[in-house]
Amino acid sequence: MATQFDENTVITIFGASGDLSKKKTFPALFGLYREGYLNPTTKIIGYARSKLSNEDLREKVKPFLKKPNGAKDDAKVNEFLSMVSYHAGPYDSDEGYLELKKIIEEFEAEKKVDEPHRLFYLALPPSIFIDVCSKLKENLYTESGIQRVIVEKPFGHDLQSATELQEKLAPLFSEDELFRIDHYLGKEMVKNLLLMRFGNTFLNAAWNKENIQSVQVVFKEPFGTEGRGGYFDSIGIIRDVMQNHLLQVLTLLTMERPVSFDPESVRDEKVKVLKAFSPIDHDDILIGQYGRSVDGSKPSYLDDETVKEDSKCVTFAAIGFKIANERWDGVPIVMRAGKALNEGKVEIRIQFRRVASGMFTDIPNNELVIRIQPNEAIYLKCNAKTPGLANENQTTELDLTYSERYKNYWIPEAYESLIRDALLGDHSNFVRDDELDVSWKLFTPLLNYLEGPDGPQPKIYPYGCRSPDGLVEFLADHGYTFSKPGSYQWPVTTPKM
Ligand code: NDP
Ligand code: BG6
Repeated sequence: MATQFDENTVITIFGASGDLSKKKTFPALFGLYREGYLNPTTKIIGYARSKLSNEDLREKVKPFLKKPNGAKDDAKVNEFLSMVSYHAGPYDSDEGYLELKKIIEEFEAEKKVDEPHRLFYLALPPSIFIDVCSKLKENLYTESGIQRVIVEKPFGHDLQSATELQEKLAPLFSEDELFRIDHYLGKEMVKNLLLMRFGNTFLNAAWNKENIQSVQVVFKEPFGTEGRGGYFDSIGIIRDVMQNHLLQVLTLLTMERPVSFDPESVRDEKVKVLKAFSPIDHDDILIGQYGRSVDGSKPSYLDDETVKEDSKCVTFAAIGFKIANERWDGVPIVMRAGKALNEGKVEIRIQFRRVASGMFTDIPNNELVIRIQPNEAIYLKCNAKTPGLANENQTTELDLTYSERYKNYWIPEAYESLIRDALLGDHSNFVRDDELDVSWKLFTPLLNYLEGPDGPQPKIYPYGCRSPDGLVEFLADHGYTFSKPGSYQWPVTTPKM
């Protein structure tokens, strides 16, 4: 059963008129409210420059407030919206903040709040993070009570800009008060990694170079950058999802056992393993950019008028990693991510070494697949006797498909889970400053090389293909053994994202 906490919390969403707020932040707050994890006494204030009324904002977000199955619950939606108001004001001058201060203080006085609990959510472009944080600190910070600030990615563009950003933020808010959101850390299967790895003797025992042949973290999206090309052109797939989301996944997958679930113990281990990553070898990558689909119905990346006509922006990358520690030394690790591919999925593939020959001549490797999305699942491809008289092997699976096993469970959306953590002050699933520093140190030399004058030309791959040419060979070179065509059959069709 849901627990209630802190009454009369004030949540202010900066950038409330924007896309992220509408699609993620408000729906997440609604989800928490619907499930009983947001106290009905909470006051939610949207703040942005656009001149909107309370009703305008409510109407804007209303279509996105749904139950997990997509159904509407008008009564709950209306209750929730009655907690929401809007205030228009600038980001870079005091006037709007002073008005906001008055609104918040009036609410807290009326409710007789001694120790304010204020959460500020910055759903804003990074160019104004610092302005807003400075104004917040000046005008809305109280010495007593709790103030927390959630900031959205990107946290910098490279090591230097991330360091500068951090140097400006640090004097304003302490690490305890800052919550750098990486929404992948709020996904159910990502949160499951620690428990699965360290809560199962058999997995824990096999999680090392003696047993594991290769590791892959895979991100595929079936759509391109349509409409976001201008933004994406200076970002590319490596900054967009690899340096942050996928590296977080890889870190949780490869770190040592923390002493407890305590946030700092977990984050200490993450930083430690990141420091053991070898520098990325510029020759150990495969990069691509999507062209038109084979039938010509889908545009190429360069067809987007908002991108440079000779852009070398990378929309697909496969990167080989090495971790120089006792557990992982010599195990090839591949992170691959691409837009405009044949399907949408995010998964982890751990392929185990072959069993000794002799008894067997040609028996497939075990493979553990953790599907983060869509349709969360964990399956272990293993070998078993085909039922019947013959003594033949068949590759089958130990299967945990969440929609089957956990039919009646509410699986929170990433933002629901993370906003709740921030309200409770739990930093476990947020990015710490030193983590950010090490991750940028790892990726910046590669980005400088790719974006520098001698940077290679990405291979063009057709929109909608499974992977760019060369990926099969790249994976094979990194220890991945492909199953023989037709040797493994899954009886159920996996829903497409
Ligand atoms: P697949 O056979 O789809 O893929 C295995 C791996 O080989 C993937 O990494 C895939 O890459 C790669 N690969 C294969 N052929 C190529 C190629 N031509 N080019 C590039 N890469 C290639 O997955 P599984 O064997 O794990 O499972 C088979 C099917 O069964 C899947 O649809 C899976 O979802 C389903 N299944 C579902 C379960 C569940 O829902 N609980 C349980 C077990 C199986 P890429 O990913 O890029 O295609
Ligand atoms: C965002 C990226 O951070 O993550 C997007 O900017 C990407 O380009 C998205 O599509 C993927 O998130 P999810 O939760 O849809 O897998």
